[in-house]
Amino acid sequence: MTEPRTDPAGAAASNCRRLTGRTAVVTGAGSGIGLASARRLAAEGARVVCADVDGERGKAAAEETGGLYVETDVTDSDQVEALFRTAHETYGSVDIAFNNAGISPPDDDSILSTGIDAWQRVQQVNLTSVYLCCKHAIPYMQRQGRGSVINTASFVAVLGAATSQISYTASKGGVLAMSRELGVQFAREGIRVNAICPGPVNTPLLKELFAKDPERAQRRLVHVPPGRFAEPEEIAAAVAFLASDDASFVNATDFMVDGGISGAYVTPL
Ligand SMILES: NC(=O)c1ccc[n+]([C@@H]2O[C@H](COP(=O)([O-])OP(=O)(O)OC[C@H]3O[C@@H](n4cnc5c(N)ncnc54)[C@H](O)[C@@H]3O)[C@@H](O)[C@H]2O)c1
Repeated sequence: MTEPRTDPAGAAASNCRRLTGRTAVVTGAGSGIGLASARRLAAEGARVVCADVDGERGKAAAEETGGLYVETDVTDSDQVEALFRTAHETYGSVDIAFNNAGISPPDDDSILSTGIDAWQRVQQVNLTSVYLCCKHAIPYMQRQGRGSVINTASFVAVLGAATSQISYTASKGGVLAMSRELGVQFAREGIRVNAICPGPVNTPLLKELFAKDPERAQRRLVHVPPGRFAEPEEIAAAVAFLASDDASFVNATDFMVDGGISGAYVTPL
């Protein structure tokens, strides 16, 4: 099993200021991948606008990254419109949109037991939100003739799981298809749109779940070639790459950051 580097994002970021002068909007910035990405984008010189429904966590993220907190429910069109307007009014541009907020509630399960309410709630937060964020971010980028949109999908968008979360999986498939189409549509206006597909990430929720049930953890870990889950900072490093000009010819991709799960047949024991 490979160990994660002790400081995967910070070590690189300290010498790497690829985003100086850019404005980055991050949704779901209060926790997990969003928080790690807000930190990384700020470390690379971006002015970060932290959006979240959770005021306490969102404000803490903004304070830590020296950015701005805008309380936003990403399922609400008016609030999303106000988020990007505020980013533009405050910092003068919208260069990076990391549309990342998402949920995976326990009542989204097998298709046989998942009710329409759970189905719709997950579609709203995971997919409609990405539609709204792209819709309200891209016009600023068109005026600038430049922009990078990164939408968070998941490895489950390209792999089937017998432990189903049916609406979640379908929502992430939608994020992939939408990102691809937008990347193609707006490429000649200097705008890149990519979907990032993280593998399973070592979040507090995942740790708690698997501490209670090691068999459940093992059932998943066996598929992951490095034999461990990702750290949020490892996803953030990929987000910073996609946001930067280093990725100037990376567009309309399903950008896998999954340790090789999606390429694996037999993995090491
Ligand atoms: N954690 C993983 O293993 C994993 C793997 C693949 C993809 N993803 C995806 O990555 C993204 C981030 O996941 P995470 O694990 O960091 O989650 P997380 O729960 O740690 O953080 C999500 C953040 O989004 C916010 N949020 C939830 N609903 C919102 C709404 N309606 N409006 C605004 N903010 C809202 C939450 O308050 C929270 O701060 C999600 O889209 C998730 O589906 C996660």
